[in-house]
Amino acid sequence: MSTALLRGVADAAAILLAGGLVAFPTETVYGLGACAGDAAAVGRLFNAKGRPRDNPLIVHVAQPDGAEALGLLAGTAADLAARFWPGPLTLILPARDGVPAVVRAGLPTVAVRCPDHALAQALLTAAGPLAAPSANRSGRPSPTTAQAVLDDLEGRIEAVLDGGPCRLGLESTVVDCSGGAPSILRLGALPAEALGLPLPGPATGGSRRSPGTRHRHYAPAIPVRLVADLGSALGRQPDAAVLCRAEDADRLGLSPGPAVHVWAADDRGRAAELYAALRRLERTGRPAILVPPLPESGLDAATMDRLRRAAAADRPAAAAGDPRR
Ligand code: TXA
Ligand code: MG
Repeated sequence: MSTALLRGVADAAAILLAGGLVAFPTETVYGLGACAGDAAAVGRLFNAKGRPRDNPLIVHVAQPDGAEALGLLAGTAADLAARFWPGPLTLILPARDGVPAVVRAGLPTVAVRCPDHALAQALLTAAGPLAAPSANRSGRPSPTTAQAVLDDLEGRIEAVLDGGPCRLGLESTVVDCSGGAPSILRLGALPAEALGLPLPGPATGGSRRSPGTRHRHYAPAIPVRLVADLGSALGRQPDAAVLCRAEDADRLGLSPGPAVHVWAADDRGRAAELYAALRRLERTGRPAILVPPLPESGLDAATMDRLRRAAAADRPAAAAGDPRR
């Protein structure tokens, strides 16, 4: 199969309605779409990504009220939807009958999101609700450009709708509203502070209840290492690539270049460039990417979550706390 690069929504919608797979831009990252009601297409989507079938998908809707046909949108969930949709927030809701089990990975709940992106909304209006995970091969950094989608999925999907680089660059924040008090299952582009919810941790059971967090994630082809002391880490591994702040680069005499990425000055900029930076640095073929940790506030908390998971992908299963890998 050859993968078409499309600019028009009508062509993309026709492919989806015929059971095909089309990657499309959102304000967070590119998603890989299949019609949510088409169980066969959704099955092909899992295969194209190499995604484990026990990891459920987010269903995207054109308008906030479209969520009501998929899940029970009431109480706090309805308040959150009213405040933050369209936007980078995914709500886990009790599923209505009719959402195919393959989308939900057999769970009684469904993840729903209304993206804040004109092209995505036009596509959803034309093709209906789309089940769409991030459009990367399973385990890899998410794609924030059409080219990054092609780098992972060329020949495995029918088309990519090119909408240029994604504005936010980091996935949506996932909030469980399926029962009890709402809790964050995955940090993302909507900061926990804006939601007024605590950061996920062992106390909220985030990793237990969000199936996807068990799997290998966000990892480029070369190891990511979080290092407290960049100077000594570089002393041990002088040919490693580096992802650091300007003050670290200045202190160590590093200048930006193919193997040195200097973070943007603010947390929003860092979130937006994270995946592109990881994908660029992996192409150097250096033995590792060394990353000093960022302070865990605002969007940096989500950026650090992704970096920790990328780094954990290269450690033995026991050290990463994942019994399944
Ligand atoms: O910004 C985003 O969220 C992007 C764009 C394309 O919308 N999508 C995305 O999808 O990041 P994906 O599949 O890469 O991540 C979805 C996350 C996974 O961690 C998955 O386990 C979780 O949402 N999830 C989906 N359905 C769930 C459910 N019913 N219960 C708990 N977690 C769920
Ligand atoms: Mg993903």
